[in-house]
Amino acid sequence: MSNGISLDQPYPTITESDKLYERALGLIPATTQTLAKGPQQYIKGVAPKYLKRGKGSHVWDVDGNEFIDFQMGIGPLSIGYAIDEIDEAIKAQLADGITFSMMHPLEVEVAELMREIVPNAEMVRYSKVGADVTSAAVRAARAYTGKKKILCCGYHGWHDWYVAVTDLNAGIPEEAQELTFTVNYNDLDQVRESIDDDVAAIILEPFVFEAPKEGFLEGLREICDEKGIVLIFDEMWTGFRIALGGAQEYFGVKADLSTYSKAVANGMPVSMLVGKKEIMNVFEKDVFFYTTFGGEALSLAAAKATIEYMKKHGVQKRIGEQGAKLKEGYNALAEKLGMASYTSCEGYPMRTIVKFDPSAGNPLELKSLLQQEMIKRGVLWGGFHNVSYSHSDADVEHTLAAYEAALPIVKSAVDAGDVKGALKGEPVGPVFRKTSNFNTKPNRK
Ligand SMILES: Cc1ncc(COP(=O)(O)O)c(C=O)c1O
Repeated sequence: MSNGISLDQPYPTITESDKLYERALGLIPATTQTLAKGPQQYIKGVAPKYLKRGKGSHVWDVDGNEFIDFQMGIGPLSIGYAIDEIDEAIKAQLADGITFSMMHPLEVEVAELMREIVPNAEMVRYSKVGADVTSAAVRAARAYTGKKKILCCGYHGWHDWYVAVTDLNAGIPEEAQELTFTVNYNDLDQVRESIDDDVAAIILEPFVFEAPKEGFLEGLREICDEKGIVLIFDEMWTGFRIALGGAQEYFGVKADLSTYSKAVANGMPVSMLVGKKEIMNVFEKDVFFYTTFGGEALSLAAAKATIEYMKKHGVQKRIGEQGAKLKEGYNALAEKLGMASYTSCEGYPMRTIVKFDPSAGNPLELKSLLQQEMIKRGVLWGGFHNVSYSHSDADVEHTLAAYEAALPIVKSAVDAGDVKGALKGEPVGPVFRKTSNFNTKPNRK
């Protein structure tokens, strides 16, 4: 490539990353603010830990190493790093002010845009992070229905109502576990069994990697209508990626409430709760959901510019095309190299995951080895392709060439029955996110 990445380069020098990490140890609990960005997601001793610059789809770490990024800020960089049109909008707003003493016109302008593009967006509220709006949606559903229990599926943020049912629930009163239950994706029977008269809402990502079975989302809609339950789509990932109007537009199924954050402002912190007027009306008076920075103008300027950029450039189409090339390319290589029985790339093209079957070895060690070899070849790889509009044909070609060089190393280790021995550092830890059998706790009547 014309930049600083080559297929034939040594493992990166990570001296400055390690120095910063040493300073963070004992000072910043867990050293990170975002679990998925933390050191346990990257092979120790090989992967950098701190990034300091990005442009388009490429990032530079604190030691000056350049990578094609397939994490993209864990979702927010839907268009790419440092995109001129969006940055100009942020800078123009910066010159006028960030946070004001009264409401700002952008609150109205962005809400009008959301109403135009998102199928169920009759009303719109803002906050800062995804967990704010999933929690607000849950509170609204409880207030609207007068019921208490929540069925969920997947990850929805750090607040008590959700984290209570995970295995990282220290500090949350046990009573909270009696109000939230998990259901399995694509299993309408289990959803039906989990419902009683006190279920206020079902909240789920319309899909994560597995596609919805025919009739699944429609079936949820029917069950919710029948039982007076609020259907909430958590569109943190699907929103603005699968289609401009998110999964509701793509599948033609309307939720009562839906939540957005990651992709809506190309990296600026803003989240949105949108939905049907008759439910959103609870925020007019009875339900408290207010925060100092909710209408912060830099992020709203970024959201407006991001939506306009997406409308103008056909961002979702390109994300889908580049993602499909990566997915199909990976699977073709796995086939060619005789590895298809234990590794595959799965999911909708906008966001795919590389999986390893335990029959070939410990999946976390396999992931670590592939990560180690992709990082050596200039690809910042965490097991996913979080594709952005900036991922170019050259990026895709380089990444597939890197797989072509790295996968045989994984295969040799699998064939030798010693994946761990091929690792140059400690393997990665598990990702805190599952959509089935994750503390499944059906609602027993
Ligand atoms: C599907 C989903 N919902 C909610 C959240 C929570 O968002 P945040 O981390 O911004 O609070 C996330 C974050 O990863 C997510 O992926």
